[in-house]
Amino acid sequence: MVFTPQEDQHQDAYQQAQSALLDWYDAHHRDLPWRMPPDALKQGLRPDAYHVWLSEIMLQQTTVPTVKSYFAAFTKRWPKVTDLAAADRDELMAAWAGLGYYARSRNLHRTAQIIADDHGGVFPDTEQGLLALPGIGAYTAAAIAAIAFGQRAVVVDGNIERVVARWADLQTPLPKVKPDVYRVMDGLTPDHRAGDFAQAMMDLGSAICTPPRKSGDGLTVPSCLICPLQPTCATTGEAAAVLPRKLPKKKRPDRRGLALMITDSAGHIVLERRADQGMMGGLDVFPGSAWADGSPAITDYPLSPDSPIAALTAAYAQGQRLNQQVEHIFSHFRVILDVEKIDIPEQKPDLPAPMRWVAIADLPQLALPTVMVKAAKLAKIMA
Ligand code: ADE
Ligand code: SF4
Repeated sequence: MVFTPQEDQHQDAYQQAQSALLDWYDAHHRDLPWRMPPDALKQGLRPDAYHVWLSEIMLQQTTVPTVKSYFAAFTKRWPKVTDLAAADRDELMAAWAGLGYYARSRNLHRTAQIIADDHGGVFPDTEQGLLALPGIGAYTAAAIAAIAFGQRAVVVDGNIERVVARWADLQTPLPKVKPDVYRVMDGLTPDHRAGDFAQAMMDLGSAICTPPRKSGDGLTVPSCLICPLQPTCATTGEAAAVLPRKLPKKKRPDRRGLALMITDSAGHIVLERRADQGMMGGLDVFPGSAWADGSPAITDYPLSPDSPIAALTAAYAQGQRLNQQVEHIFSHFRVILDVEKIDIPEQKPDLPAPMRWVAIADLPQLALPTVMVKAAKLAKIMA
């Protein structure tokens, strides 16, 4: 049974919860660099839509503490959306390196260019207008419309899903419960201050109505005793901690592959630029084998015979396989990479694109995905 805003006996609970949460936010909101605090908003100030958009894209897969430093670096280097539109692509990719999910940075650049070229440097102020931009889905459009422009929009992210499922005691597992979560959040969202309300839910989810973690032989429980929603909340303690329910997760499969650290006699190393589409698109990686499903027993990773790398390495002595591997988790699989060092005893023999030689000293400035940085560190190529 859903605890809906349409049922008269619940109307008061919805209204009480709404004002209790906004009062709590006035007193306990986090100060975040992209936020306009509630007092300033009440005086009519608005946050910079560019800042709100940039932070929301960064926060899609990344935690607040990590985003803070990237947000500061981006806004210092590109103070306005038109600056970001004019940014050099490689510089932007390099500045994004480490945040992961690189499709986000390609869409970031495209959207900045669309805003600069087609919208006079001004963001659309409606959910519908925002949804038309690359990289902006339903959540992000609602968040920007509410936070940057004060529109009433129903914002639901993972934190809000958790708080709402607990507050309304929604027992249906994810993802089936989503329409119910949306209805409850719609009932709770005020006509004014929808942006503050959404961010209040996020702050509550981060500080009080926290996700469960294993502790001893049980789960940690949310801090219901100090929660502003407690008087109207349908659950508490351990009954809350298990919500939202989830269907059992499929195990992430493992993939295996080889990364080659091919160096020359003058301090250069071979990189390969990935095609724009697909995983690690547009980034520099170390050449190697394809990543295939495989058992831990597999240690032989054939290079494609057409690969210029196969020809290059065949011409010289065998590489040296490191006895440790690197591991990295992507959204849908885990990769385990063997790393091999190959020293070429001459200077930069010719290689066709997309391969190229770069100075090892320049690696830290380049757009390498985290898994490649791990491989370079293991091989002691990077510090
Ligand atoms: N996560 C995503 N957007 C956020 C915001 N505006 N404030 C805090 N956490 C968030
Ligand atoms: Fe979450 Fe507890 Fe607050 Fe309910 S009372 S919203 S379960 S912290």
